[in-house]
Amino acid sequence: MLYQLFKKAQKEGWAIGQFNFSTLEQLKGIILAAKKLSSPVILGTSENEINFLGLKETLAIVRILEQKLQFSLFLHLDHGKNLDLIKKAIDFGFDSVHFDGSLLSFKENIKLTTRIVKYAHKNKVLVEGELGFLRGESRPFKSSKVLYEIKEKDLTKPEEVEEFVKETGVDSLAIAIGNVHGTYLKMPKLDFERLTKIREKTNIFLVLHGGSGIPPKDLKKAIKLGIQKININTELRVVWKENLQKVLEKSQEVKPYKILPKVEKAIQKKVEKYIRLFGSSNRL
Ligand code: G3H
Ligand code: ZN
Repeated sequence: MLYQLFKKAQKEGWAIGQFNFSTLEQLKGIILAAKKLSSPVILGTSENEINFLGLKETLAIVRILEQKLQFSLFLHLDHGKNLDLIKKAIDFGFDSVHFDGSLLSFKENIKLTTRIVKYAHKNKVLVEGELGFLRGESRPFKSSKVLYEIKEKDLTKPEEVEEFVKETGVDSLAIAIGNVHGTYLKMPKLDFERLTKIREKTNIFLVLHGGSGIPPKDLKKAIKLGIQKININTELRVVWKENLQKVLEKSQEVKPYKILPKVEKAIQKKVEKYIRLFGSSNRL
């Protein structure tokens, strides 16, 4: 089902948003936005996020919400590096897993990704591979430091893409084209020429990590040039924190069920903005 959605996005020229969460109000905000706009969404959890939430518990909640809302939801393990955790996510029924082999050599990345793809496909789970190295982490940075740290050698080499995709059998591929995790005073520019060259080499679904902070017109251009999935985390974390702070500072309220709906609403609004930008409304 998720594979078909990727295919549809590729054919029609839009992108699926992957929105990360680690609290229930974040999860509900994302789902409410998706439901309202009839948009597919991928619910992403990094290793730290899912370790905090609990893998089985999260899966149970997502599947119950899915039944209740009559709406397909896709749960994805983001930046998986721990092979035991990746295996658990596959065994328990995640829809897809990302194996982040970006710190490994090209050969070692191929070897491990291939092993994971074989196991995942046996269990009807999709795999996202990664070629190239993404700097930063999902939080706001008050400097532009990362700009000077991006090195040519970090970026995905178009000439390696074909071999990687063919050897591993991945369903999608995360690429580094100047994108970074987190938001910065001055965001780096995306290398659209590199994206075009990568697209020419393969038909694989392409994923853009580090979506927060990239100007909307660049996100649109990336979709036009062949990106099928965009990951957003930092901006949702910031919305969560700022809105929670605002409510707590303004009132003496202590009842979580009176405080948190405001946070949930703010997250929903942010996700709706991205869904519209990615062109995924009314695509279910
Ligand atoms: O894997 C998650 C994303 O790449 C999130 O990036 O925090 O810059 O939005 P972001
Ligand atoms: Zn990422």
